[in-house]
Amino acid sequence: TLKENSERLNRCEQNTVDVTQKIYDLSSEVRSQVDGVSVRVDRVERELEYLENKIPSLPNIEMEQALLEQEIKAEELDQLKKKDRIKLDNGTQSSLKIVKREGDTYGSWFKDPSEGSAKVYFLSGLRNNTLLEYVNLKRFTEGSTTRPAKAIELPFDWQGTGHVVYNGFLYYHKADTPNQILKVDLVNGTVVDSTLLPGAGRLPVYGLNLNTYMDLAVDELGLWVIHADPDYGGNLVITKLDKWTLAVEYTWDTLCKSRDAEGAFLICGTLYVVYNTRYGGRSAIQCLYDIHDTIHSNESPVLFFPKRYTSHSSLYYHPKDKQLYAWDDGYQTIYKVETRRNDQVPVESG
Ligand SMILES: *[C@@H]1O[C@H](CO)[C@@H](O)[C@H](O)[C@H]1NC(C)=O
Ligand SMILES: *[C@@H]1O[C@H](CO)[C@@H](O)[C@H](O)[C@H]1NC(C)=O
Ligand SMILES: *[C@@H]1O[C@H](CO)[C@@H](O)[C@H](O)[C@H]1NC(C)=O
Repeated sequence: TLKENSERLNRCEQNTVDVTQKIYDLSSEVRSQVDGVSVRVDRVERELEYLENKIPSLPNIEMEQALLEQEIKAEELDQLKKKDRIKLDNGTQSSLKIVKREGDTYGSWFKDPSEGSAKVYFLSGLRNNTLLEYVNLKRFTEGSTTRPAKAIELPFDWQGTGHVVYNGFLYYHKADTPNQILKVDLVNGTVVDSTLLPGAGRLPVYGLNLNTYMDLAVDELGLWVIHADPDYGGNLVITKLDKWTLAVEYTWDTLCKSRDAEGAFLICGTLYVVYNTRYGGRSAIQCLYDIHDTIHSNESPVLFFPKRYTSHSSLYYHPKDKQLYAWDDGYQTIYKVETRRNDQVPVESG
């Protein structure tokens, strides 16, 4: 793990993660993509003013959704105001934006996190053999009919919502197998490798997402798979896989429970587990597991996600973007994640 530690030092400057409540407006986001200007609004006050004054024009979203958005924003204004102090105390910043509403209630979407790739992948539903590939986020958001997505057919169905694309390969749970992971070359849809993940397949990974038995993830250190293991009281187990051969590099038993979990992601070798309720509520990170044992759950506050619709069926961290790509009850959303060093004194900006 010497190599791993030095990699971590090079690539993982931050030790803690804050996910709090902040909202971006979709139209401002789209505009910012066109302008190439960051729309980062650092002050909550400014944001509230913005939300209160702006009557959004949302070209690609039906009016019904726009209205729903407004209602939810209005509701959240109060919450934002209440949360404000906590956020300032903690020096936290983060955001949510809704990118699109497409496909099934359950599904996953994400970018290929490898260097230089902007491609976006869309896997709707809990089982299928077809995924959609978009050249970039803008294309995905616009849903252009002149440049439609490329449909890629897989040799075998996937199962659940735990897939990733990494360096142009899709890694996924092959349907009708307890624990087989396939690596498929998306250029021609051929299986280039496969493995059986020891111990996986007997329990769903997350108590609130019963169709996913293996949740793949990519962070700064590489490819991971998360599963729940009945031999460890149903706790989550994380396994580092070699992205080329799918060989198991190492496995860690965490103290994070599967019960009431809806998803998880890794940042720099630390697992962040997101919990919710069966009825849908306020998602919150309530358990951490750091493979290097430098961050502990009990030292980190509970981190709440902005309350939006009901629940997340998938969450993907993108190491370069420092964003989470989430599927929230049929909505495709992005959370901005701000990370900072443990030893850094939180400074209020603006
Ligand atoms: C950060 O916020 C949490 C609530 O989200 C609170 O419990 C905690 O005390 C805050 N930490 C600091 C240092 O203010
Ligand atoms: C499979 O996915 C494709 C592309 O998203 C979609 O058009 C099709 O309806 C899906 N099939 C099923 C059975 O869900
Ligand atoms: C699929 O594409 C990859 C990369 O382009 C190539 O190396 C591989 O040989 C191809 N496999 C088949 C069966 O065509």
